[in-house]
Amino acid sequence: MNIEKAVNFDDLRTQAKRKLPRIAFDFIEGGADDEFCLARNRDAFRRFRLLPRYLVDVTTRDQSCTLLGRTYSSPFGISPTGLAGLFRPHADLMLAAEAAAANIPYLMSSASTDSIEEAAQIAPHNTWFQIYGTRNETINDDLVRRARDAALETLVLSIDIPVNSNRERNRRNGFTRPLKMTPAIVFEAMGHPVWVIRYLRSGGMPMMKNWANYAPPGARAGDVADLYGTLTPAPAMTWRSLDRIRSLWPGKLVVKGILHPQDAVMAMHAGVDGIIVSNHGGRQLDSAPSPVEMLPSIRAAVGERVELMLDSGVRRGSDIVTAICLGARAVTFGRPTLYGAAAGGRAGVKKAIDIMRREVDTVMAQIGCTSLSQLGVANLYRERPLEYPSDDALARLVRDTVPDLD
Ligand SMILES: Cc1cc2nc3c(=O)[nH]c(=O)nc-3n(C[C@H](O)[C@H](O)[C@H](O)COP(=O)(O)O)c2cc1C
Repeated sequence: MNIEKAVNFDDLRTQAKRKLPRIAFDFIEGGADDEFCLARNRDAFRRFRLLPRYLVDVTTRDQSCTLLGRTYSSPFGISPTGLAGLFRPHADLMLAAEAAAANIPYLMSSASTDSIEEAAQIAPHNTWFQIYGTRNETINDDLVRRARDAALETLVLSIDIPVNSNRERNRRNGFTRPLKMTPAIVFEAMGHPVWVIRYLRSGGMPMMKNWANYAPPGARAGDVADLYGTLTPAPAMTWRSLDRIRSLWPGKLVVKGILHPQDAVMAMHAGVDGIIVSNHGGRQLDSAPSPVEMLPSIRAAVGERVELMLDSGVRRGSDIVTAICLGARAVTFGRPTLYGAAAGGRAGVKKAIDIMRREVDTVMAQIGCTSLSQLGVANLYRERPLEYPSDDALARLVRDTVPDLD
């Protein structure tokens, strides 16, 4: 199947699975522990129904969205994903270029394999830069400075990795630090020759380019990854770190990874402009709730003072419309565009964006909506748990029906 034949995100995933060695595919796909959270992210969306309204003129629909002071053409963007060059050389720049062409936000990870300066050149108005806390404040400050020097408008601080999580697929596949190319890994990879040729031609293990600046001159990709691995995560990070970044960063500041309404309020008081409600795509805390379950309480807690976004498990246009009904301005997704890049390079990323744009448009028409500002909870029906009669009521029922039992 070629990329043109993909009709939905799942087709892109199937193509990517075929093309990538297992160690790479599982790194994208996998979640923490038993991957319950991964499944919950999809299940939570299934609990909502969209209530259609008919006899509305939906000849023209507008899915443009104003987010943090800029108008984007669709209410979705690309989540930050580290090590994308492993799936396709220069995948980060492909994501940036296609995001700019489609006029949607592209959130570049600081763990990317192309640099922030390169992305800013390709997509100056669409690139946001995502950082984690690191154990070395000088490096963190420098990453913030580089985003500022690159004239980017939006910085994202991800706060949901106090420690590394238990990703069992990676451990089983040997995707651990330092990465050792065991015979089993090489043998399995040989079943994906096109990927192997691209990997070798591009120089092997891709370098985390944003971090290369902080390694000694001449450091190789593995050395840079080791440096990154020793300085992140930063378990001592607190709200003071957010205050510090707020004071350093003059532009729009977004915090990613919030699930608790109280944390949302604290972030609002720290002066953030936006929040991405996220469980990191089920990759961190396996018992975490799905963002779509928490969004209503977070919206209620912060009111209209902070712009809310959501990621984790968004796979359909109806998911996006549901999130907007619940109070999100926009959503992002991570794996689908990586699958697109792995399966078809730039054309694959474009395909993912086109699929989603079309799905949002169709759903809008189907529920009688011509502009996203019309959406609200009135468009939703939520599945309610079945109500069972109490034990007492059941006993009464039995007594009344079969009086002889007494
Ligand atoms: C391969 C991969 C790498 C990721 N790297 C980062 C990262 O560097 N920074 C970050 O904040 N989130 C990272 N994430 C999480 C995503 O930003 C996002 O929260 C998640 O993918 C959303 O879920 P979805 O994949 O179901 O759309 C990564 C996710 C994947 C799949």
